[in-house]
Amino acid sequence: MHPGLLHRRFVTDLSSSLFSFVLPLLPTQEERAVKEEVRSLIEKLVKTIEPSARLLSFGSSQNSFGLRNSDMDLVVLIDDPSANLEASHLVQMIGDLLQRETNFDVKPLPKARIPILKLTLAPSSALPFGIACDIGIENRLAIENTRLLLTYATIDPARVRTLVLFLKVWAKRRRINSPYRGTLSSYGFTLMVLYYLVHVKQPPVLPNLQRIAPLRPLAEHEVMIQGRNVYFFDDTETLRQEWSSINFETVGELLIDFFRYFSHDFQFNNSVMSLRAGQLTKEIKGWVNDIDVGGLNEMARDRNRLCIEDPFEISYNVARTVTKDGLYTLRGEFMRATRILTQRPDRAVIALAELCR
Ligand code: CTP
Ligand code: MG
Repeated sequence: MHPGLLHRRFVTDLSSSLFSFVLPLLPTQEERAVKEEVRSLIEKLVKTIEPSARLLSFGSSQNSFGLRNSDMDLVVLIDDPSANLEASHLVQMIGDLLQRETNFDVKPLPKARIPILKLTLAPSSALPFGIACDIGIENRLAIENTRLLLTYATIDPARVRTLVLFLKVWAKRRRINSPYRGTLSSYGFTLMVLYYLVHVKQPPVLPNLQRIAPLRPLAEHEVMIQGRNVYFFDDTETLRQEWSSINFETVGELLIDFFRYFSHDFQFNNSVMSLRAGQLTKEIKGWVNDIDVGGLNEMARDRNRLCIEDPFEISYNVARTVTKDGLYTLRGEFMRATRILTQRPDRAVIALAELCR
């Protein structure tokens, strides 16, 4: 067969294989229901401490990029401004309460930079993987960035969700999804994919929701929460009617090109991925490493190896956890993936299995 034809067949095959690959990894309806029960139970208990408190889910259980048995991310929001409770104190109080009233293994970390409560439920027959849950306090930006990610997914679920879900599985299986061990969080990988679909691909697969101007008067382009502008265009109905991508690449093509772009084109040494503003330089952000930091602080050097600007907390580098070695590993994985997908064995399923080994 002609090589071009062979490649076309592989790419088509790859797209359908990607769909079938992620489908069985999605959370079941039952899992969702159990998690919602857990959230609602904990919320009731928290309300006995502070009646105006609400407990909201964020992260992958809400942004449509959730995988089976993933952790729960919860946040306590207190609506009564006169409540005046300190986060560390609240974490301790909720921890004590849950210890008394539930079967959870409870670990409050009130002294952490961001006070947090860690809960785990041991595996049982109903819940073969148990439950792991983090509860934070008043992190309203996380709710907003979860909504932003969900809105991006809603615009083109078949391509966006499939790509993100596959990359999350790939990153977990290749062990490059460990922010505590020098690599990147799931949130970071998700922002990389969105950055690629909004700013790298020409024509773009997704619009920049933080910069859509013509659809609304400019006054609405600022919504402040915790000192940050969290505005984005979230009217998916209008988007569906007024915006459509003229990029018709398949999810298989996009995946191959994603790996290729991060193997060969992205300038890791001096570029910053900003979903909000496109490609920026480390210099402009003041996120320099090596020489400029000098002997000031050895740790600061490793902060900005990989740079991904948070969409709302723009002074925050989401990829600050990535060390020199971590980046080396990540780049090696992008190249390995490119190699596997361009050598194209006969069947895409085999390529995917090899990719995630
Ligand atoms: N988050 C954040 N800043 C970070 C990391 C995470 O604001 N540096 C918030 C985001 O709202 C994100 C959520 O925490 O959606 C959960 O992050 P993470 O666990 O990395 O992503 P998930 O989508 O929950 O992935 P997983 O399924 O692996 O848990
Ligand atoms: Mg999570």
